[in-house]
Amino acid sequence: MIKIKSAEQAMANTAMYFLFKTFDESKLPEELVAILNNNVNQERYTFELGSVKFIETATKKYIVVGMGESPEKITIGDYRLAAFKALKCAKSEKIDNMDVYFVECGLQKAYLYKIFAEMVVTGLYTFDKYKTKKTKCYLKEIAIIDDNQNSVLESVIEEGKNVAESVNITRYLIDEPAHYMTPKKLALEAQENGKNYGFEVELFKKSAIQKLGMNAYLDVAKGSSNKPYLIVMRYRGDKKSDKILGLVGKGLTYDTGGYSIKSTEGMKLMQTDMGGAATVIGAMTAIAKAKLELNVTAVVAACENSISSTAYRPGDILTTMSGKTILCENTDAEGRFTLVDALTYIQRKEKVTTVVDVATLTGAAGRSLGDVASLTLSNNDDLYSKLQNAADVSGEKIWRMPFFKEYDEQIKATFADYTNIGGDPGAIIAGVLLKAFVENNLPWIHIDIASVAYKEKEKYYYNEGATGYGVRMLYELAKLIQE
Ligand code: BES
Ligand code: ZN
Ligand code: ZN
Repeated sequence: MIKIKSAEQAMANTAMYFLFKTFDESKLPEELVAILNNNVNQERYTFELGSVKFIETATKKYIVVGMGESPEKITIGDYRLAAFKALKCAKSEKIDNMDVYFVECGLQKAYLYKIFAEMVVTGLYTFDKYKTKKTKCYLKEIAIIDDNQNSVLESVIEEGKNVAESVNITRYLIDEPAHYMTPKKLALEAQENGKNYGFEVELFKKSAIQKLGMNAYLDVAKGSSNKPYLIVMRYRGDKKSDKILGLVGKGLTYDTGGYSIKSTEGMKLMQTDMGGAATVIGAMTAIAKAKLELNVTAVVAACENSISSTAYRPGDILTTMSGKTILCENTDAEGRFTLVDALTYIQRKEKVTTVVDVATLTGAAGRSLGDVASLTLSNNDDLYSKLQNAADVSGEKIWRMPFFKEYDEQIKATFADYTNIGGDPGAIIAGVLLKAFVENNLPWIHIDIASVAYKEKEKYYYNEGATGYGVRMLYELAKLIQE
């Protein structure tokens, strides 16, 4: 659907131009220059970043996209925003066929094309399964106009498209309400993706989880009639190596808070509490699709945090798979129970050599950084610098918080080894508890995506709904680890 064509082959009835304020008139059609120069409304075209003008003449349609003042200073985020707005205009104008023109700027051409392909595919995602009137998609053919057609540029477009399809899988998993996306359904979705894209999926039901001794995880799950499923995904792209990248995703298909019940407002989006799980499933898909040359194992301890006479309670002391105990002071801090057991499982049973966990873990993450960046913690500078490089490429912002040793006191309890509540700073303290379950100083990163996984309305370059944050970053991390 996205091709590179030469200027001679350009034939669509719509042309999309990405232009800086300093645009070169000689490269544009005369008719368009005339309109841009003496615009009927006397309203000057500012070419402000992300501003979009739709122009229709007797013979042609134009979508002019502002890229801002300076071709040198533009960032990937700026460009994503411009592309997002441009594609939104193409969608609302029901454009089916268009030629796209870029101008030279501080970003490499390969980046521009890859991101454009990503934005096209993520822009076409809609979650309309429950709408009686479905969204019609008009956009069929897109040609990037470039006289230097080459296989490198074609392959980055393909890569962008593939990764974005995985991002859309993650968004779909999150957007589905919890009555549908139960732990079992999530497990079956993982299995389906494994079959389609080439990774192995092993599912453990309750009795098998009991045998593994993952009792903290089972305690969180026991209030719900939707039974837990431990999902293990394995991709082997480098059979000669015994190195394995481990991914752990928080998989709460719904979080009522349990007996420490949430407010109506606090509960309403808690179908997104499997966002970490959806992210690692999407990342596995992207990695397998691209046939990256490394080994990855992802683990999701999927369950639902409900209230019933069989639910766990504040005051219970939970025995984790590692043997260590944690006092539950608040049943709403449930994610960490499931994550510590998943961490123990992935280290002891899957023998991973690195581990990254992704979780919608705390509201406190958003109070620290807003919805701009995820909150991260790590015990390893080398691994973290790889993640930072991956995030710089993917444009997904991360911010690393400290592990001051004073925090260690806050997770101690009198009658158990640890407590699940340790006061402020909440997002870091949650990470301090997870760190207590990282064995032999294994290189580890924790990514709290609670504030970035979902947008309640369109914002930045995201539509309303699940963002798919993290999939592209984990994919880029896997690429760096493979090298
Ligand atoms: N799932 C929530 C965190 C969350 C909040 C995710 C908002 C997405 C959006 C988590 O299980 C939770 O409830 N955390 C508590 C922890 C507290 C009880 C220590 C929180 O953040 O309030
Ligand atoms: Zn909770
Ligand atoms: Zn939760």
